Amino acid sequence: MDDKLRKLEERIALAHLGGGEKRIEKQHSKKKLTARERINYLLDDGSFEEMGIMVTHRTTDFGMEKEVYFGDGVVTGYGTVNGRLVYVYAQDFTVFGGALSETHAEKICKVMDLAMKVGAPVIGLNDSGGARIQEGVKSLGGYADIFYRNVQASGVIPQLSAIMGPCAGGAVYSPAMTDFIIMVEQSSYMFVTGPNVVKTVTNEEVTSEELGGANTHASKSGVAHKTAANDAACLEDIKKLLGYLPQNNQEKALAIPYELGDEIREQLRNIVPDNANKPYDMHDVIQGIIDEDSFYEIHKDYAENIIVGFARLGGRSIGIVANQPMFLAGVLDVDSSIKGARFTRFCDAFNIPLLVLVDVPGFLPGTDQEWNAIIMNGAKLLYALSEATVPRVTVITRKAYGGAYDVMNSKHIGADFNFAWPSAEIAVMGAKGASEIIFRREIAAADDPEAKLKEKEAEYAEKFANPYRAARRGFIDEIILPENTRRKLLKAFAMLENKEVVTPKKKHGNIPL
Ligand code: COA
Repeated sequence: MDDKLRKLEERIALAHLGGGEKRIEKQHSKKKLTARERINYLLDDGSFEEMGIMVTHRTTDFGMEKEVYFGDGVVTGYGTVNGRLVYVYAQDFTVFGGALSETHAEKICKVMDLAMKVGAPVIGLNDSGGARIQEGVKSLGGYADIFYRNVQASGVIPQLSAIMGPCAGGAVYSPAMTDFIIMVEQSSYMFVTGPNVVKTVTNEEVTSEELGGANTHASKSGVAHKTAANDAACLEDIKKLLGYLPQNNQEKALAIPYELGDEIREQLRNIVPDNANKPYDMHDVIQGIIDEDSFYEIHKDYAENIIVGFARLGGRSIGIVANQPMFLAGVLDVDSSIKGARFTRFCDAFNIPLLVLVDVPGFLPGTDQEWNAIIMNGAKLLYALSEATVPRVTVITRKAYGGAYDVMNSKHIGADFNFAWPSAEIAVMGAKGASEIIFRREIAAADDPEAKLKEKEAEYAEKFANPYRAARRGFIDEIILPENTRRKLLKAFAMLENKEVVTPKKKHGNIPL
């Protein structure tokens, strides 16, 4: 009997060594944690339960039968983060560079299937050289099995991806179909084809870091939702993110009990400058509204003319979509529309109420925008907000011009409560542009056209650059003093807590892609 027990202990010890001491050292020398270290860091102490530790590959080509490692390059199982169940898989770079084999994929699929049955998030810690080259098409089939599950799980359970090493070729498409991607700076990269292929095909010289490093994807492509300075920071980010999410689409996100106090925030009173063309930082508005230190920003360095992220309001998890007048005057363009739409759809899928803060001068003009389909891409945000059935509240802080007024969670597309500050200007366009068009002849005929334009501009602004016309029609439910915003929002979201919407029966909508 002792022998049998010892055999198990030996095998477990071997499995824990992954590809061996040397390769572990190499992993550490790159400032990377091993798969098991990552899991232990992520999960609550002692909560990890491993599945499939004895799994090995079945390949006999290229002498592979002689190179066999328990676990086959991926550690899988379940555990808890802050007491809540999660499923996790961590690719082990010390075993065949974390390359994905048929059995490696089966292990990942197994935890994904369980997560779907039970209704809990799946977290993938990716660190892999891609398809296991020795296995050929079996490994490609393994990827596809994972992709299929990613899609089935989409909108049902949260799926989070950390990229903590290489992630190239087919490997990129599983993270791409999950809800959030966090990349570790300097040690991770993602691309469909690497620098060598790029050089051959397009003659471009580019490093891995430039082509697909964390900062590239966080600022240029938007593929990464967040970056982290190192493995530990990345895992901390995941823990934090989970705190805003429900376990699955049948649950509401966690809400900490909260008793309403006076909730007045004087600092909100003077944020919007008198001059409508002067920028201000919408982050200041957000900070003045939400619970202290609760903002978890997504896509911080991408399409900065719109801000999206999670926050808590009176202990409730909410999603915020906000124009940012500091960048491109907060205009909507292709990238910001896509960014806002994707975040909106995530919140809607997972019952997270939406707060939309509006200061938008319209859509960005130009050939670049038109030829890159601002029509279809702008429509994404319009579509996403229109279809969202979660509680939806709007605050217009300043400009709400033109079609962008409609798009930014207007009453007309189903918002539940629409506030405006007295500084709001709800109009077809700015007073100057409007005057130049409708008073063109009058201005041209004037002795002093410039003075005439100023006069007409003032006339137009007096009539339309305010929230009162919209409020008279009921397009705005209440015009509020900025300092009362937090209080008003706390009450509005509490009032909407049990909102239910019955939607027409359909297979799925056809969002303009
Ligand atoms: N299949 C099988 N084994 C792989 C592998 C793959 N796709 N990718 C890496 N490995 C193995 C290596 O042979 C090496 O094995 P060893 O420890 O026995 O020497 C180990 O993983 C580590 O790889 P190494 O190349 O030493 O690491 P690195 O950090 O210098 O480079 C990569 C990492 C990912 C850039 C490099 O391994 C690579 O280019 N891999 C192939 C990528 C690819 O084309 N994948 C298939 C298409 S998706």
